[in-house]
Amino acid sequence: MKIEPIVKGVVARSAHPLGCKQAILNQIKAVDSANDVLDQSILPKRVLVLGGSSGFGLASRIALAFGAAQADTISVSYEKGPSDKGVGTAGWYNNIYFKQSAQQAHRKAININGDAFAQDIRKQVIQAIKEEFDGQVDLIIYSLATGARPGANGELWRSAIKPIGESLTGASITFDSEQWLESTLAPATEQEIYETQKVMGGEDWANWIDELINADVIAKGAQSIAFSYIGPSSTHATYHQGTLGRAKVDLHQTSHAINLKLAPFAGSAYAVVCKALVTKASVYIPTFAPYVIALYKAMKEQGVHETPIEQMIRLFNAHLYPSPRVDQERLIRIDDLELNPRVQTRVDQILSELTKHNFKLLGDYKGFKQEFMQLNGFEIEGVDYEHEFDLEQLIALGVQ
Ligand code: NAI
Repeated sequence: MKIEPIVKGVVARSAHPLGCKQAILNQIKAVDSANDVLDQSILPKRVLVLGGSSGFGLASRIALAFGAAQADTISVSYEKGPSDKGVGTAGWYNNIYFKQSAQQAHRKAININGDAFAQDIRKQVIQAIKEEFDGQVDLIIYSLATGARPGANGELWRSAIKPIGESLTGASITFDSEQWLESTLAPATEQEIYETQKVMGGEDWANWIDELINADVIAKGAQSIAFSYIGPSSTHATYHQGTLGRAKVDLHQTSHAINLKLAPFAGSAYAVVCKALVTKASVYIPTFAPYVIALYKAMKEQGVHETPIEQMIRLFNAHLYPSPRVDQERLIRIDDLELNPRVQTRVDQILSELTKHNFKLLGDYKGFKQEFMQLNGFEIEGVDYEHEFDLEQLIALGVQ
């Protein structure tokens, strides 16, 4: 069978294995060609990535395994493999092909697929650190993005991406029908604010660190990072001052608490504020699409656009190592290029003119959609999209 893209709204229902492989190889190439002059002795050798199958988590895993750190990695992700119901998710193939390339480069790459909130997955991670990492981890990257989190007592918290205080009207763009859809979001209830913080705030990150400390697997000097977003004032009603922003403020505060927990190990923890990018998670955010197509257009015009791998290369080569560069709130900022006033002036100009009739022309809709398709292994140069796959062979890939 040939594998074709299947997209419903902003969700991909198929992924191309060879495209995912090529996307991994392209990211490795980007790391190889980055000018990285860091002294290996200060870099983490044993890295745990929670959420390492796509987006920033995958990019950080590739940057650390194939950059100067030459790190061994354990990654936890929640991905679906091929079956008679479908070909599986891009993250499933990303895990397989990352591991293949890492092993060829003589790095350990352990993929744990399952719910990172579940106790048995935490036990598997600790066991893997003991068996594969000589019992110690140097860097823990928290990069989970999800809509729901189960609690220990049978609760299920769900995040709601909503404004706080006032309703908000904005547009989303669907990839299948290429339509600009205006909608009005009602303000979040207190319960929705609370649950979004439970899902996307810092609590689970802190729980992970506690469990790793209790299992005695934290190395001397160990660090931990989690990713955040703040954005310019034009997005604040949707993000920074909305439910997700509240959760991120909680994440920032948790970074200080984790920093204290790691102090006895001479370690540290930081929230890293990244640029807005197209990922599986971010395209869900209502009103995000118009901002991103305006941002991509402005950043590409000015030659400062970055992809997740470019963000992560810059993070590890200049902002976290050789020593962390933080702002007055102890945040690592790699959103500086996005927030540059020249970029934002141009973004505001584009946004003020953007409508459902002209969004494909005025904004970088083409680049936005292409990055989404590429996340799922489609529209990538050099890939044979005529290739005939055999389901049994695809299933067998995952058990190697
Ligand atoms: P993504 O959707 O590309 O990746 C999410 C990862 O979490 C995947 O590996 C997925 O398998 C894993 N995951 C989700 N639920 C899981 C579960 N229950 N158990 C195990 N693994 C699970 O997301 P993205 O965009 O890379 O997000 C990562 C972090 O970066 C988030 O905290 C997000 O808020 C932040 N961020 C994202 C920005 C963006 O524009 N995409 C901008 C700034 C920060």
